[in-house]
Amino acid sequence: MEVTKGMHLFRWRCPAIPPFRQWSNPHRFVSSVRRRPIFAAAASSRAMQTASDHSKQPVQLSQEQKDFLESALRVNQAGELAATLIYTAQTPPLLQSHPDLRNLMKHMHGQEAGHFATFNKLLAKHRVRPTAMYPVWQAAASILGWSTGVMGREAAMACTEAVETEIGNHYNGQVRELFRWMQDIRSKGGEIDPELEELINTLKRIRDEELEHLDHAVENDAKEAQPYEPLTNIIRYGCRSAIWISERV
Ligand SMILES: [Fe+2]
Ligand SMILES: [Fe+2]
Repeated sequence: MEVTKGMHLFRWRCPAIPPFRQWSNPHRFVSSVRRRPIFAAAASSRAMQTASDHSKQPVQLSQEQKDFLESALRVNQAGELAATLIYTAQTPPLLQSHPDLRNLMKHMHGQEAGHFATFNKLLAKHRVRPTAMYPVWQAAASILGWSTGVMGREAAMACTEAVETEIGNHYNGQVRELFRWMQDIRSKGGEIDPELEELINTLKRIRDEELEHLDHAVENDAKEAQPYEPLTNIIRYGCRSAIWISERV
């Protein structure tokens, strides 16, 4: 009953509440929910169904792999929250001077909102807690988006280029790691959990959309931003730091 209540609250909060008000206290709905090992429920139910045929049982992930997935889902959700808020804050000042960018900004923000919703669902499904840094990233992303939007089109696009470069690398690392697991399972003749395959496909799709944003930014003169190098270096360093922290806290 507790679990149902928690999931209902999660689903109810995310789509409707304005981004600045979402998740002001992200722990309150997961703290009362009993956590369970990631992917374990689906795997164990299938294992029971196929108890007479061991060769068809999906391979259970090791504790280290489960910890990796928990950390990955947590940091991905934080990243997509930040991306959504960057575009939310960036768009009004940017469109004042460049109304021609309306469709592009709407397109990229829409995709980020979709990514955020995807990871919200995955966190709820696998009972993964959000990062404790959630309010800090909310503020930092909004400030970054607003300030680069005020600086103008090139700076806003340089921000997107810097962020998407780091996020693209980040997703690539996760996809590589999960592929390595799948190859390992296959080489031992094991059956891969369909949820794991689905997660890899989701990560690949989102990574490709992030790299599409990177291309849009470069096409829209990101490299003409002044000062390009310090601006993009600071943003990229900030992204890497935020990823490192969110994986752990
Ligand atoms: Fe995204
Ligand atoms: Fe993106």
